[in-house]
Amino acid sequence: MSKYDVIIIGAGIAGLYAAMNLPKSKKVLVLCKDIPWECNTFYAQGGIVTALDEADIALHVNDTIEAGAHHNLKKIVQILSETSLKTTADIISKGMQFDTDAKGNLLYTKEAAHSVARIVHAGGDATGRYLHHFMMTQNHHLLEQNALVYDLLIQDGRCYGVKATINYQPTTIYADTVIIASGGVGSLYEYNTNSRTVSADIQGICVEKGIALKDMEFMQFHPTVFIKTPYARKLLLTEALRGEGAYVVNEAGERFLFEYDERGELASRDIVSRGIFDYKRRTKQEVYLDFSMFKPKWFHERFPNITRTFASVGYNFPKDRVPISPAFHYANGGIACNSHGVVPGITGLYVIGEAARTGVHGANRLASNSLLEGMVFAKRAVDHILSHETHIAAMPKFDKDYGNILHKENDKEYKHKLRQIMWDEVGIIRTTKGLHHARNCVYDLKNREIGRLLQLRLNTASAIVDAALSRKESLGTHYIEQEEQDI
Ligand code: SIN
Repeated sequence: MSKYDVIIIGAGIAGLYAAMNLPKSKKVLVLCKDIPWECNTFYAQGGIVTALDEADIALHVNDTIEAGAHHNLKKIVQILSETSLKTTADIISKGMQFDTDAKGNLLYTKEAAHSVARIVHAGGDATGRYLHHFMMTQNHHLLEQNALVYDLLIQDGRCYGVKATINYQPTTIYADTVIIASGGVGSLYEYNTNSRTVSADIQGICVEKGIALKDMEFMQFHPTVFIKTPYARKLLLTEALRGEGAYVVNEAGERFLFEYDERGELASRDIVSRGIFDYKRRTKQEVYLDFSMFKPKWFHERFPNITRTFASVGYNFPKDRVPISPAFHYANGGIACNSHGVVPGITGLYVIGEAARTGVHGANRLASNSLLEGMVFAKRAVDHILSHETHIAAMPKFDKDYGNILHKENDKEYKHKLRQIMWDEVGIIRTTKGLHHARNCVYDLKNREIGRLLQLRLNTASAIVDAALSRKESLGTHYIEQEEQDI
């Protein structure tokens, strides 16, 4: 029987920073669903927020709450911003290299809804890639690749470990503590910017076990994504582009976002996404991101990753403008927990990163707060674990096993259907009628002959649809359009 002190599900920034902070003396296992870099952290472009200094904390808190439509828990936002000074200093002292000027001063950029430039970045527009590489090199614990968790071992209010396939072999792994750091729900949506590994499995297990998900109606859509590729993960065009001065334009090259908000391209993400979506629907025009104001040399140095990626699909930046659409990007809601990541009612279970609902993001996450959230709350969870050590004396047996029924024959077709329904009816602009339609479709799919993993996705989809149906008024990313008969 394998037994660990701590199992961490997920090897993105939250999981890896938790691992970095757990001492070598602990027996820790990091479970990574695929290859380590197949995670959202790796694909993050723009950067990571850090309060500039003590004086900036109040402003950062305010920006976060304004963007979050005042649905945030202020105490948690305060923790995020205050702790940013320590976490940024910590990783820099351990060797993380952010972009600097010739004198070695950190370079800060701005993204939408930030009052000041307070976002540090690495490799120009490859912050996630650099951070992930740095954290992988810092990890001193065992990491299992190709480790897919399909159950949490929970009995009488305690978590005892997980069931997972490791290299396709079903395995039961016990632990005193389990940290969920498995990310959000991207694979539920037809158009999304997420890694293919981010598929709402663990949220679905929580639904099954009666563990609360919160704020699930608040799904965030990134405004500027290139969706005309055949791959599941659509290509992000970082908000830092608009922060540096790129425009969103119509076919005639005219900026139109001022019709929606006086901040134009730099309004918060929910407003810009809705504006682009509405404009395209109303005018039937294509909408573009325009970089023609930038000098090529500067652009290529500041955004090397984007330049290269888009050159491979035929665009010559900054000369060419590129058609854009909003796409699903981030789950503001998640598994309910307190400020230490403790999942209420379940001893030994923690949740951090995008999987968690700490209350920090409110109804709409402020750009580049997510990598920071991953680190800040990972550290707090680890501190809590180390100061509340519990050891399980006797392990119950968990006989029920889904290891051989993870997939069934028609799952692929049903998953595709689910993605379409979620995009069409539970997307950027919703109607009550559409949400009811989505609820019926999800219910119908649940009653088909389906595998365990699709069942879990559908559990999470149900939680999103139900939360959206319960919130009658629009708030942040949850926007309900009035139908004729309602008016
Ligand atoms: C981006 O670079 O635009 C994404 C940053 C984020 O999601 O916060």
